[in-house]
Amino acid sequence: MRVLFITGKGGVGKSAISSATALKLAELGYETLLMSTDPAHTLSDLFETRIGAEETKISKNLDAVQVDVVHEVTKHYSEIMDFITKVLKARKIDEILAYEIANFPGITGAAALLKLLRYLEDKTHDVYILDMVPSGDALRILYLPFIFSKFSRRFMKLFAPFVEIGKPIPAIANIPLPSKELIETEVQLLEMLEKIHSYMVDPKITSLRIIMNPDSFSIENAKRTLIQACIYGLNTDLVIVNKILPEELAESYLSEWYKIQRDYLYRCELEFNPIPIKKVKLLNKEVKGLESIKTLANEIFGDDDPAKVYYEGKPMQIVQGDEGLKIILKVPHVKRDELEIERYGDELLIHLNTFIGKSVVILPLPAVAYKFSLKKAKIIKDELHIYFGEAHE
Ligand SMILES: Nc1ncnc2c1ncn2[C@@H]1O[C@H](COP(=O)(O)OP(=O)(O)OP(=O)(O)O)[C@@H](O)[C@H]1O
Ligand SMILES: [Mg+2]
Repeated sequence: MRVLFITGKGGVGKSAISSATALKLAELGYETLLMSTDPAHTLSDLFETRIGAEETKISKNLDAVQVDVVHEVTKHYSEIMDFITKVLKARKIDEILAYEIANFPGITGAAALLKLLRYLEDKTHDVYILDMVPSGDALRILYLPFIFSKFSRRFMKLFAPFVEIGKPIPAIANIPLPSKELIETEVQLLEMLEKIHSYMVDPKITSLRIIMNPDSFSIENAKRTLIQACIYGLNTDLVIVNKILPEELAESYLSEWYKIQRDYLYRCELEFNPIPIKKVKLLNKEVKGLESIKTLANEIFGDDDPAKVYYEGKPMQIVQGDEGLKIILKVPHVKRDELEIERYGDELLIHLNTFIGKSVVILPLPAVAYKFSLKKAKIIKDELHIYFGEAHE
């Protein structure tokens, strides 16, 4: 069983690539379910057929479903969502958490994950593909199980003892009192989120696939996504650079674009190393209808099996210790005297001067690093270890 999350900046081709991946898998004989949470009904447009809130058959082995998040949440979880909002309003249980939830538009994205879990538990299909909605922080929906289960555990510690022994629940600080039913829902929800979590962090099951175009905005966005995925223990197994101008346009009106794109492609190779990259050309027309989805699928995967795990590993690790923070990056074939590191605000600039030329890798730092300052860096085997310590000397 495989779960593929397709993410990337707005408009890079997530829906087109999700659909192409799904179609290829179905052709190879996998029972495939393509899921979308996009209220714009992109999948219906792409496949030129109505895709509803329940699984709709698209072709042999391929089903699609348009998750109606509002419906899902109100049907299954409205009570608990209301309560969480009240709790957060009444008291800051956890600043980070409050911030995350406050930033989560309507918190409804969780519904897609919960629906996915129901499918996974019922083993309805072999491969599940989630075409994600664009946003600056596209991964937030995937963070929910991590954030929520942390919150839930605290919540449970506060109230669970009273539920067990049937005592009246005392008012704690100014947190509103939950009902017994609510706590039971909470327990179920916690169990479900823990299950989702265990599926998500298993690299044999779940892969994140990051889509980008050869332009600086979508590459920056992709890098941040990759780092966030590393922080949360999600395995990114493939990077797809989409909409690359084909070679026949090198000497045309678009020649400048063509050249710029080659530079960006070269940067991608450096920056996403060691994750494999697939390069996909801009087709000569919009992707719409089964035939053109099929063309795109062949362009991306050829004879490849999209269900395979393309890469498994941690290109970046963040270790927090007593004395500070350590970031470990995979940098094969690079020697210490070939690189120089510099901190610039919330980014780390890694200057590389290797046999393939000079370049700079810009690494956005995780929020936890903001309070530390850069101390030293070492190469240990194929890894670059960067140490951060207390800001004051
Ligand atoms: N390789 C390609 N060649 C030609 N057109 C493409 C290619 N990939 C995507 N497109 C076109 O780009 C547009 C955006 O694609 P798509 O809707 O898949 O992007 P998206 O990332 O899902 O967007 P959103 O962020 O709005 O969900 C569509 O018109 C699609 O047909
Ligand atoms: Mg889309």
